[in-house]
Amino acid sequence: MCGIAGYVGSREAVSIVLDQLKRLEYRGYDSAGVAWRSGNGIAILKKEGRLDRLFQEVTQTKPTAHIAIAHSRWATHGKPSDENAHPHTDATNRIAVIHNGIIENYIELYQEMLQEGEVPLKSETDTEIAAHLIGREYQKTGDFVEAVRSAVRKLRGAFAMVILCEDEPDKIVAVRNASPLVLGIGESENFLASDIPALLPYTRDVIVMDEGDLAVITSDRIHLEDAAGRPKLPKITHVDWDIEAAEKGGYEHFMLKEIHEQPDAIRACLAGRLMKDGTVKLGDTLDEKVWTGFDRILIVACGTAYHAGLLGEFLFEGILRVPVEVYYASEFRYNNPILRPTDLVLFISQSGETADTLAALRLVKEEGIPTLGIVNVVGSSIARECDSVLYTQAGPEICVASTKAYSAQVASLALVALYASHLRGGDREKTARLQTALAAMPEFLAEVLRRREEIEAVAHDIHQAPLMFFLGRGADAAVALEGALKMKEIAYIPTQESPAGEMKHGPLALVENGVVAIFGITNPVTRDKSLSNVKEVAARGGTTVGIILDSDPLSAEVLDRSIRIPHIDSPTIAAAVSALPLQLLAYHVARLRGCDIDKPRNLAKSVTVE
Ligand code: G6P
Repeated sequence: MCGIAGYVGSREAVSIVLDQLKRLEYRGYDSAGVAWRSGNGIAILKKEGRLDRLFQEVTQTKPTAHIAIAHSRWATHGKPSDENAHPHTDATNRIAVIHNGIIENYIELYQEMLQEGEVPLKSETDTEIAAHLIGREYQKTGDFVEAVRSAVRKLRGAFAMVILCEDEPDKIVAVRNASPLVLGIGESENFLASDIPALLPYTRDVIVMDEGDLAVITSDRIHLEDAAGRPKLPKITHVDWDIEAAEKGGYEHFMLKEIHEQPDAIRACLAGRLMKDGTVKLGDTLDEKVWTGFDRILIVACGTAYHAGLLGEFLFEGILRVPVEVYYASEFRYNNPILRPTDLVLFISQSGETADTLAALRLVKEEGIPTLGIVNVVGSSIARECDSVLYTQAGPEICVASTKAYSAQVASLALVALYASHLRGGDREKTARLQTALAAMPEFLAEVLRRREEIEAVAHDIHQAPLMFFLGRGADAAVALEGALKMKEIAYIPTQESPAGEMKHGPLALVENGVVAIFGITNPVTRDKSLSNVKEVAARGGTTVGIILDSDPLSAEVLDRSIRIPHIDSPTIAAAVSALPLQLLAYHVARLRGCDIDKPRNLAKSVTVE
């Protein structure tokens, strides 16, 4: 997500933290800012857009400081703008805060603070609320570190936060809670950053902060304590990675890194939305009468986002019993779509800039039909032009092949389905099952990742196949399309994907020795039918691989190879989780075939031409 940098020592601090930010540029951002301790207090510069714009401003100011923090923002709350860029300050401008992640309870905290007096807001961010909260605590005690401790106890969510205080010009306080933060140790100087690449030119001795840790950093000392305030002995790690490896967090490719980020991406997507009591909050959303009034849902998207939309169809039709139609955005405009005022149209897009999806959105808007965007990139065109937007919160995705954005799109669709179900009285039992499965989705994904070696072993067995089938029934058939897309995108293996039951109507003719068929079998209701299809393939010499549930030993006996995922009671979430092994299979097959995984030939991450 966002980039964090910090420095305290005898060198010129501002140029060091800006250089650190530059080294995090590859992650994507929409605005940036820096705070340093000048002779008159804390000085701040922040700018929307590329880092160069901030650099120009800084150059004119010619700061000399020995302590500074800097931030590149990837918007989550509030559009990209100068005002919303970090650092943010409290009411007295003595506290400056930069932050990664999301503070879930920022509205509650704001309301609580309002009871004690005015909160003069300068931005639309959750971060500014944290700055005010720390500022208020500081006013009570005059103890900077204690003020951070007590404010952090009140914050809920996933965040890494770094704070400067005007009255303590030699100290940076940093807190880690679910978002990464790394400290770098120098000689009479210390550094901090959200990611190791920002530290490597300066030091290779780092301390990776643990969950809940708080650090007080001065030029000659790092004090570390755990969430309970108990001092800890820092564990220093020497990093040998080169810069390129460091950018990928030690993974060989961005794709692998992003596959592994999925549990966190879904946590961020659900944070502050799926509440413990099962209710769903979507924040600023469409009018209630739209939510209760629609009698059909259209979903429009391209590529992987379209495949997420196909799972949306199962979610909405299952729980709400309203008809859903899913369209390729490139087809939508030219197929004379029937649009009615009682439709709700969802547009799904990682980038928010895909030209076909944007053109379809404009057509629907001309008709005055309500539109909801499910978008990853904050402030993108689709996000801005939809009547309302639900951000998927997956964080920047760099690999051309989409992985974590897909999972977050499905989780977002599930949130929308639950939200509508609560308002409209959807199927109670299915709603409850979906709620439970969605809340546990990050843990299901994490469990599949723990089994990654089994998946890699299957990739070894099948990587030379001349043709691969991707098959399933119901939601598994929708995921089969995504599995096939991953395989052809990055491993360049021809694929044939369809509902498993369709095989006998033609595609089965392609099966012969050496051909591999990968089945999704994650729904007990259709399991036996799918196993019949497995046997049809095996009888013709094909190799069969299945993604199956832990609770299904029978399928494992019938298949040549099986990859197990945890038992999940919601068929749509089970199918969505089964996409992760398919992503890993494609990744390892591509790697074994020597393909350029992060930048596959002929393809682009964001397709802005129709
Ligand atoms: C390109 C990307 C895909 C993506 C599709 C739709 O083809 O390579 O990964 O699924 O565009 O992009 P969007 O940004 O609208 O989700």
